[in-house]
Amino acid sequence: GEPIKVALLGCGTVGTEVVRLLREQADDLTARIGAPVELVGIAVRRPHKHTDVPAELLTTDAAALVAGEADVIVEVIGGIDPARGLLTSALREGKAVVTANKALLAEHGGELFAAADASGADLYFEAAVAGAIPLLRPLRESLAGDRITRVMGIVNGTTNYILSAMDATGSGYGETLEEASRLGYAEADPTADVDGFDAAAKAAILASLSFHTRVTASDVYREGIASVTASDIAAASLLGRTVKLLAICERVLGEDGTESVSVRVHPAMIPRTHQLASVNGAFNAVYVEAEAAGQLMFYGPGAGGAPTASAVLGDLVAVARNKVLGGRGPRESAYADLPVRPMGET
Ligand code: NDP
Ligand code: HSE
Repeated sequence: GEPIKVALLGCGTVGTEVVRLLREQADDLTARIGAPVELVGIAVRRPHKHTDVPAELLTTDAAALVAGEADVIVEVIGGIDPARGLLTSALREGKAVVTANKALLAEHGGELFAAADASGADLYFEAAVAGAIPLLRPLRESLAGDRITRVMGIVNGTTNYILSAMDATGSGYGETLEEASRLGYAEADPTADVDGFDAAAKAAILASLSFHTRVTASDVYREGIASVTASDIAAASLLGRTVKLLAICERVLGEDGTESVSVRVHPAMIPRTHQLASVNGAFNAVYVEAEAAGQLMFYGPGAGGAPTASAVLGDLVAVARNKVLGGRGPRESAYADLPVRPMGET
């Protein structure tokens, strides 16, 4: 078939790995999609730094790249602006979008879904939560016939890397955060990780998909790990416990019998015998409880260039296949209008 033209916005930790996989797996991707994937441009801020990609593909004009010939826009810039405007215009023009941008989805997901619905474009974002772990598609598709009651787990690799190191070796917070940044786990501004904003954005996305309601990052009760000290971890250890940053999304019943949604992110002391206690480094693990399915656990690499690029490529194959064969990917569910509990109430 005709080549599927892809524009890549951003070529940092994740984007570099997307380019590598596109190159190394070109033949397999063509076979799987039924058409070759052609990378038509890469938008970056500082082109001179990108000596490992073909210079003729590089541009600093992301808007022109989005408005150009591409069928699919892959966004791995991060942050709200300019990603918000770029993706909204792409979707309005009917271009498929694949993004890893949880901050944007958690704040302006509604606007993006509306633009996608209006034009019939695909909007995929598996990489936005829990890196390589297939989690959003199971929530959106496999469990769509069940009733999810709770989603709970470790969804930030950087903080888990820091807490695991503090627990295992007593190493300091600052040096471990630097290491997490060097390994490509941390956000461009790592306060997003340590203050719990990243986990809160992911929790908002998880709650929205699981409970078919609109939860934004600002609805999420949030405490990060900045106040967790080495002596807290040592004290937890004496009690046979360890400290993990948890995201918890659940349906709750009020005294009057009305149902609402509670979403929170905070450090918690958990027994060392709990399965989550053995989730170390930049790994993530998420439990999903649904009425008919019971308890499911999703586990794997939650951050880093290659694992995240794996999820991006999976989405790219899905949207490219839809372009070749017709059809459209999972849409936002009809809303149940479940209220979200005010922050801090559990
Ligand atoms: P990086 O900071 O490593 O890369 C960002 C890229 O975007 C850089 O190439 C940068 O250009 C480019 N960029 C920044 N601003 C602009 C702009 N205005 N126009 C064009 N290009 C721009 O980020 P990551 O790769 O780590 O993360 C990308 C996205 O993926 C984020 O949304 C992040 O939250 C998400 N994500 C990251 C994961 C990870 O483990 N790193 C895991 C899951 C999701 P230049 O290189 O020239 O500066
Ligand atoms: N900074 C994020 C983390 C990247 O550490 O989990 C993956 O979303």
